[in-house]
Amino acid sequence: MYNLPIYNYLRKYEKENINIFHMPGHKLARGIPQELAMNVLKLDVTEIDGTDNLHYPEGIIKEAQELAAMAFGADSTFFLVNGSTCGIQAAIMSVCTRGQKVIVERDSHKSVVSGLILSGAEPIFIYPQYNCKFGINEGISAESIEKALCMYPDAAAVLITRPNYYGICSDIESIVKVVHSHGKPLIVDEAHGAHLAFSPLLPPSANQYKADIVIQSAHKTLPAVTQGAYMHINGSLIDIEKIRFNLAMLQTSSPSYIIMTYLDIARELMQTEGKERLSHLIEEINAFKNRLAELHGFKVLEDNYTNINTVLDTTRLVLNTSGLGISGYKAEAELRAKLSVQVEMADYENLVLITTIADEKRNLDRLYESLSKLNQIPFNDEWVRQAEKVRSLARQKPVDALSALSPYEAYAAQKESKELKNCIGRICGGVITPYPPGIPILYPGEIIDSEKISYIESIIELGGKVNGIGNNISVQVVK
Ligand SMILES: Cc1ncc(COP(=O)(O)O)c(C=O)c1O
Repeated sequence: MYNLPIYNYLRKYEKENINIFHMPGHKLARGIPQELAMNVLKLDVTEIDGTDNLHYPEGIIKEAQELAAMAFGADSTFFLVNGSTCGIQAAIMSVCTRGQKVIVERDSHKSVVSGLILSGAEPIFIYPQYNCKFGINEGISAESIEKALCMYPDAAAVLITRPNYYGICSDIESIVKVVHSHGKPLIVDEAHGAHLAFSPLLPPSANQYKADIVIQSAHKTLPAVTQGAYMHINGSLIDIEKIRFNLAMLQTSSPSYIIMTYLDIARELMQTEGKERLSHLIEEINAFKNRLAELHGFKVLEDNYTNINTVLDTTRLVLNTSGLGISGYKAEAELRAKLSVQVEMADYENLVLITTIADEKRNLDRLYESLSKLNQIPFNDEWVRQAEKVRSLARQKPVDALSALSPYEAYAAQKESKELKNCIGRICGGVITPYPPGIPILYPGEIIDSEKISYIESIIELGGKVNGIGNNISVQVVK
């Protein structure tokens, strides 16, 4: 056997026949016709005669991007080979300059933080509604955006995340109207919503209402490979040449033809078969949810649990585990270790599962069997005690963080490492992010308070991973 830690592990993972509810959306090639899934290395070329150039497309890449724009309902589309991350960064850098304000939904992905640092823009945070029943953020309301735009008429743009990791979609039609009535561009991080355009049974994509920039991770919910994403542009408020320049600056000069090919394949499959396959999937999910309602221990996130102005992406399964008496983290670990299920992510009291057109009835049947077995496992008393301890925390809306410096100022400042427990009142120098979902608890420049400290400590105690926390639970703070 070759000494190949990554290759050997991945082959082992494939052979374990795990029931997969995580990205990428092709689910170990299941969602892609066999003839299009073979010989990946033979697609790995470079810019030579005939293969075009991602940064200055004139041939096959230009054609594929134009087909994507048509399929996703956008005016134009850029292929991204560094995920939605580089699209979000380029979008912020294209609409703001150093010191300019941008209105940002606070529960944004950490790529928004890096976009703010790179651009030097100053965020004005707006907070999503909080769902105390599941301990999760909901969508943002058009009213809170309107209020922020009136308070900060000099803001250069608005950035929202929709759907969020839990599939909750804010009312995009009203939001676009509000932002455009102030003459500002709207950036939508639609990383989790690349599939929305392909089924009338799902919430609409932001492209349908002509949000100015819409960024989608194809690899999350479509049969595309990791890092493949689209950046769609609509209307006339965006300087396309600036976007092009920023994308060329942020992405490699040797973009992967494997990624680009699968961006094209995902578009073609969704355009030709997406509607039918999604409607079949949604039918199976609804049947699965009905069965699950009879199983003790799980509560499924459905429309009746969420705010009236939001809609849910039915393909995203959010299962609350508090009825089992254990945290989402422990449920995730047990499912993987004993029942061969890998979910996308877990939090204090929820499991999040991604389903795509690669899933079929048998995957959901198998999942149901595993969840009914999980229900019967006798849980360690310590896990139950831990879950009870943090449940009260999850049920309260987290306290809004106070900013002392902009993300760029904190990034540029001198920093030191300190034990988290001794950091009350200090200014956070890094990005503290549970991963997944990748939404920062603390942005650079925000003041660390006791509530944030116990929140971070309890995630770690429960087995969650928090990026930005060093050895001995230390953090970077501004000197
Ligand atoms: C809401 C959100 N936005 C952006 C991203 C970044 O996407 P990518 O991994 O395609 O760079 C993620 C990744 O998880 C995300 O959850």
